Amino acid sequence: MAILDKHAVLEKSPSLLLTFSLLVVTIGGIVEIAPLFWLESTIEEVEGVRPYSPLELTGRDIYVREGCYVCHSQMIRPMRDEVERYGHYSLAAESMYDHPFQWGSKRTGPDLARVGGRYSNEWHVDHFTDPQSVVPESVMPKYAFLARAPIEPDHIEALMETHRFVGVPYTDQQISAAYADFNAQADPDADTDGLLERYPGAAIGNFDGQEALTEMDALIAYMQVLGTMVDFSTFTPEPSR
Ligand code: HEC
Repeated sequence: MAILDKHAVLEKSPSLLLTFSLLVVTIGGIVEIAPLFWLESTIEEVEGVRPYSPLELTGRDIYVREGCYVCHSQMIRPMRDEVERYGHYSLAAESMYDHPFQWGSKRTGPDLARVGGRYSNEWHVDHFTDPQSVVPESVMPKYAFLARAPIEPDHIEALMETHRFVGVPYTDQQISAAYADFNAQADPDADTDGLLERYPGAAIGNFDGQEALTEMDALIAYMQVLGTMVDFSTFTPEPSR
């Protein structure tokens, strides 16, 4: 056939063959990779998953800064032993607002994807202050200094705008209320109606029990939301498309 004869030209010239192979691989690559950038079509949205509140987002930054991901993963794999130990396997949607994601690749300590609500705030304070006082054989370092580090939400609006820039759907209202929401979440006496409307299910309280709002408060607020957004008593995964 004529067209196959023309193909012989390609096969006989190494440079032509290389050029055309590259072209084919490039087109194939674009077709496979490009759609992944339109995340809406790659991640199935799940009811309940919301962006982090200002205090949780700050706690998450502290988690990243302290390198907690070096010892802790945040991804429960769909295997029986993991699901029995940690709870429902992680859904892609549960980390859709994580920039960068915290799946991790090392488990010196347990997976933290569903640690929210598992322990009281007091337990976390004791554990972060001196892990060995709670779990004697623990190799986790002490983070007592977090309770001595007061924080002000000076950069919270810029932080949320940055997350919005990479695709987290923070509204203008959420950003303008950020300063107030940040403080309200750590104050049991505050009016938290607006906060809870913007961030349903957020844990509220004086997490570390001290008067000052500290990095410890933010980190515990973050711990307490992990894995709690989706209600697994009503959730049924859609069969993959
Ligand atoms: C050197 C490794 C290491 C680092 C770094 C580390 N941890 Fe741990 N973590 C552990 C180990 C081991 C355990 C299990 C024993 C224990 O509970 O202390 C643990 C337990 C925990 C638990 C209890 C989990 C459960 O389900 O019982 C939490 C919460 C936790 N770590 C949070 C953190 C946070 C937040 C940071 C960063 C500020 C951090 N860890 C840093 C090793 C580490």
